[in-house]
Amino acid sequence: LTLSTTVVAKDWEGPAYPTQSFFSQPLPIPGVKAPKYTFTNPQTGGPIDYYELEIKPFQRKQYPNLAKSARMVGYDGQFPGPTIDIEQGRESVVRYINNGDRPASTHLHGSYSRAPFDGYADDHIDVGQYKDYYYPNQQNARTLWYHDHVVDHTAENVYFGMAGLYLLHDQHERDLALPTGKYDIPLLIMARQYNSDGTLWDPEKNDEDTSIYGDVVEVNGQPWPNLKVEPRKYRFRLLDGGISRTFKLFLNADQKNNQRVPFYVIGSDCGLLAQSVVTDLVTISIAERWDVVIDFSQFAGQNVTLRNDHEEVNPDTEYLGTDRVMRFIVGTTVSDSSNNGAVPVQLRDVPFPPQDQSVNTRHFEFGRGGSNWVINGIGWHDTADRLLAAPQRGSIEIWELENGGGGWSHPIHVHLVDFQVISRTGSDRSVLPYESAAQQDVVWLGPGETVRVIARFSPWPGLYMFHCHNLIHEDHEMLAEFNVTQVADLDLNEQNLFIDP
Ligand code: C2O
Ligand code: CU
Repeated sequence: LTLSTTVVAKDWEGPAYPTQSFFSQPLPIPGVKAPKYTFTNPQTGGPIDYYELEIKPFQRKQYPNLAKSARMVGYDGQFPGPTIDIEQGRESVVRYINNGDRPASTHLHGSYSRAPFDGYADDHIDVGQYKDYYYPNQQNARTLWYHDHVVDHTAENVYFGMAGLYLLHDQHERDLALPTGKYDIPLLIMARQYNSDGTLWDPEKNDEDTSIYGDVVEVNGQPWPNLKVEPRKYRFRLLDGGISRTFKLFLNADQKNNQRVPFYVIGSDCGLLAQSVVTDLVTISIAERWDVVIDFSQFAGQNVTLRNDHEEVNPDTEYLGTDRVMRFIVGTTVSDSSNNGAVPVQLRDVPFPPQDQSVNTRHFEFGRGGSNWVINGIGWHDTADRLLAAPQRGSIEIWELENGGGGWSHPIHVHLVDFQVISRTGSDRSVLPYESAAQQDVVWLGPGETVRVIARFSPWPGLYMFHCHNLIHEDHEMLAEFNVTQVADLDLNEQNLFIDP
C-alpha cells in the first residue's frame, strides 16, 4: 500500500453496484465455533477450551445476479469469522493456522491478553505456520473481536476478511435479563468497494488510491441486508469492523414519517455501561463497539431502517448507498417474550479510575510526518524511538490525545487497558452521553479535537501497542508502543501465565 491522504474521490470510476438490491438479501449471522476439545489447566484445575481457526481463501457471491464472486481470505474461510462465545473465567487457547496469502498476526481486541499473546504487529505467523494464543477471559462480559494486526498489511488483511467476533459473558449480565439468544445479534459493519462484476476492488492493485472508505456498506459481510425481527426488544452488538469509515447511525421508522427510533445504549468496548443511555444517534468509528437495545414493539408489520447520517461524515465524497446500512422487517408476532422487559437504567458498577489518583499526564499528538502518519513525530518503523511511554504497572495515568490537524480524524486504540474518556475539547462535541457512562478501548478523535482518557495500566507488565485504528493510518506508521514496567514490590508471580489478576 502507498499512502493516500484523500478519501475515495467522486471521480473514482466506481462500480455500478446493484443498488436496486438494497435490503434484498438476509443478514448472515456467523455461527458459534465449538472448541475442538477442552483440557485442564494443570495449575488451577480449571477448564481451558482449545480452538483452531484456519486463515484461508474463499469465494463469496454478494448478490445472485452478479457475474462473479469476490475472493476473500478469512478465518475458517468465512467472513465474519466464526464467533467464539465464552463464559468469564473459562480460559481459552486459540490456534491460528495461516493458510492465507501473506503473514498474519491476530489481535483479540478488547482482551487484556498478556504479551506475547496480544497479536503484536511484528510477531507474525508466516504462511504455512500456526501460532497458539492464550486468553485468560477474566474480564467482565463484553463484545470483543479478533482481527489481523500484521505489520504494514493489517488494512488489506482485514479488508479481505480477517475479522470475527469473540463474546464474553458473565453472571451479572445474565441477571439483568437483557435480550439474549436469538435476540442478541452481532452487527459487524464494514464498507468495501466492488467492481461491477462482483469482484472485490483490490486496494493492492490500486496503489495510488488506497484509502478504503468503501461505497458498499455491509453488515456481517452482506451489502445492505435485511433482518426479519419480531415486534419486541433485541440486543445488537454494533461493531465498526471496517478500514477507514466512521458511521453516524440512526434508525428510521419508514412508515411513520421517517420518525427516528431510539437506541438504548447499554454497552461499549469494555462491557456494560454504568447506566443505559437513550439516544437517536450513535457515532461509531473503526473498532468501536456499542451494544444497543432496539425496541420494535411499536412497529409491527413495518420497516425500520438503520441509516448512516452521511451528510455529517463527508458530504463531498459520498456515494448513493453510504447513507443506508440495513433494514429491519418487523413481523407481527412475538415467539418468545422472555428477557423483553424494560431496559434497566443501572447496569453495572464500572471501575472508573479515580482522577485524583492519576500519577502522570502524557501528551500524544496524532498527525502527519512527511509522507506518513505519526505519533509525536514517531512512526512504527522508527524502531529505536517508538517506545513512547513506560507507565508503572498498576498505576493510573491520564493520556491526552491531540489531533494534529489537517481535517483528519483518528480512532485511537490503546491495547491492554480499559479507559474512560474524561474530556473532549476543540470541536463542538463534548464527551458524548454514552461515552461518559462507559469505559472504552477506542476513542474517536475528531478533527481539531483533544481527548483526555484515564486508565489504570494493569494487569500485566510488558510491551503493548497503541495506534490509530484507521487501518490505512496504522499501516502507514501511526502505531507506537508502551512498556508497562514492573514495580518490584507487587507480589505477583511473574512466571505464571495463568494468574488471576
Ligand atoms: Cu483492533 Cu491494535 O487493534
Ligand atoms: Cu488515523
